[in-house]
Amino acid sequence: MKLDIFTLFPEAFDWFRSQRSVRNAIAEGNELRLFDYRETTPLGAGQVDDAPYGGGAGMVLRVDVVAAALDAVYGGAPGHRVVALTPQGRQLTQDVVEELAQEERLTLLSARFEGFDERVGIHLASDAISIGPYVLSGGELPAMVLLDAVVRRLPGALGSEESGLVESFSAELDGGLEYPHYTRPSEFRGWRVPDVLLSGDHRRVDEWRMEQSRLRSAS
Ligand SMILES: C[S@@+](CC[C@H](N)C(=O)[O-])C[C@H]1O[C@@H](n2cnc3c(N)ncnc32)[C@H](O)[C@@H]1O
Repeated sequence: MKLDIFTLFPEAFDWFRSQRSVRNAIAEGNELRLFDYRETTPLGAGQVDDAPYGGGAGMVLRVDVVAAALDAVYGGAPGHRVVALTPQGRQLTQDVVEELAQEERLTLLSARFEGFDERVGIHLASDAISIGPYVLSGGELPAMVLLDAVVRRLPGALGSEESGLVESFSAELDGGLEYPHYTRPSEFRGWRVPDVLLSGDHRRVDEWRMEQSRLRSAS
């Protein structure tokens, strides 16, 4: 998968790129590229935003700046999905993550300030996605949230200590929540691990886990 992120703060992704799942995914042949709107802006002095028509507070990321950035990288309109990150978009869920993880290429557009000029969403992006019904200061964290969720669905991204298959919201658990996990010690301050997990009976353990998952998901 080729993942491109357009942002005003590419350095914000340094930590994210160093995460093992991302390094694994890149080692498997996936790509993660970062582009700074300021590098390709057609305006002077690295300008990328402007005051809103009609007045009011804040600055708006200009449509010509976003278009120039996409043109510079793709030579025109990209032939793949371009996701604008905005609190006004379709809410990110595991189903949306699974859908995006099937794509061969994906571009994320992140904004700051008051957000994008509306024409970005209408003419340059194919999708608008929100990571939740709240407003953050910029699209960098939303981009990393979406990317993290997508990257862990790519073959080879996770290490052997994580399954990635049986997780909350997965088809393996009928879309429900994952069952509880315990590890050593088997007893701590009188808090005991359920006996079934210490029984060595894998059939009973599986049944117990599915039952726990159903109970958690129903409440
Ligand atoms: C301060 S927000 C702009 C909010 C916008 N004025 C509004 O009220 O809808 C700046 C940028 O952060 C990103 N952002 C903030 N919250 C987000 C969320 N919940 N999901 C996705 N992106 C978000 C978007 O890229 C957004 O354009």
